[in-house]
Amino acid sequence: MIFFDKSICKKCGTCISYFDGYCMTQDEGYPIIDYEVCNQCQKCIAICPYQAITMNNIPPTKITDELIKSKIGYDELISLLRFRRSTKIFAKRDIPKDIISKIASSAKYAPNQNKNIDILVIDDPSMIQIIDLCALKFVKRLYKLMFSLKPISKFISIFLKSIYVIKKKMERDLYINKHIVKENTNVLLLVIGNSKVPTTEMSAQYLLATMILTAVSLNVGCTLMDSLKLAINNNKKIKNKLGIKKTNKVLGVLALGYSNEKIVNIPNGYEINLFWNKLND
Ligand SMILES: Cc1cc2nc3c(=O)[nH]c(=O)nc-3n(C[C@H](O)[C@H](O)[C@H](O)COP(=O)(O)O)c2cc1C
Repeated sequence: MIFFDKSICKKCGTCISYFDGYCMTQDEGYPIIDYEVCNQCQKCIAICPYQAITMNNIPPTKITDELIKSKIGYDELISLLRFRRSTKIFAKRDIPKDIISKIASSAKYAPNQNKNIDILVIDDPSMIQIIDLCALKFVKRLYKLMFSLKPISKFISIFLKSIYVIKKKMERDLYINKHIVKENTNVLLLVIGNSKVPTTEMSAQYLLATMILTAVSLNVGCTLMDSLKLAINNNKKIKNKLGIKKTNKVLGVLALGYSNEKIVNIPNGYEINLFWNKLND
């Protein structure tokens, strides 16, 4: 909840000049927040020179020269991005709880238009095992549905060009790994929300991206696991067990664990076509 403290406000007008007529009006120089319009973007908190506007009455962090100097620059950020890789082989080693919390709570700094997203941290090995079993059943069913009849696979391939890559991946998980959750996965971070509320699905992806980068910065390996997302969303019992409301869905799953891979090169990244002003044909 955005909170305004009249006793701190110096009526400087900064917030009003920014928001007057939109999510704010004024009364004798004091701002009045229109809570019906406010989407808690927190820009008013960011610009108030006197910290008279806060979230839940907790003062924000004052930006000082020292803080500006401590902000990482382009080189550090690009280095972090270049080091990111999805981890497919995890080491049998626990991630300390405070590191898990750091990764999960970094999501609060992601661009987020929807304020009803929760993160569920699954670090109980028995719960991870239950999710694995549920996913295994789901993938088995899906595999049967997609590949037991040739005409069906042919039909799907019209829309889904990568169907045979998916088939290979499914076969590897079902018959070689015999698990969907990767061995030694230490934690599953589930991003949960109501996908019917506009912007929720998108916001969830930004939360995931933010957590991925935090994990990289803490040398924790991670992988997005859409297979688990689909499996959980299609299993009412598991959703219930995890305490996920009927109206809500898992919008993304990030598996965490220390990497046991020996990465010795940084590939050049994925080819992204870059156009200026107009897409070429
Ligand atoms: C939307 C999305 C869903 C993914 N789901 C899975 C998954 O279910 N299982 C898995 O092993 N990897 C999954 N991944 C990770 C991809 O396999 C990985 O991103 C891809 O191989 C590229 O490797 P990189 O992330 O190291 O660049 C997913 C990635 C994305 C973007």
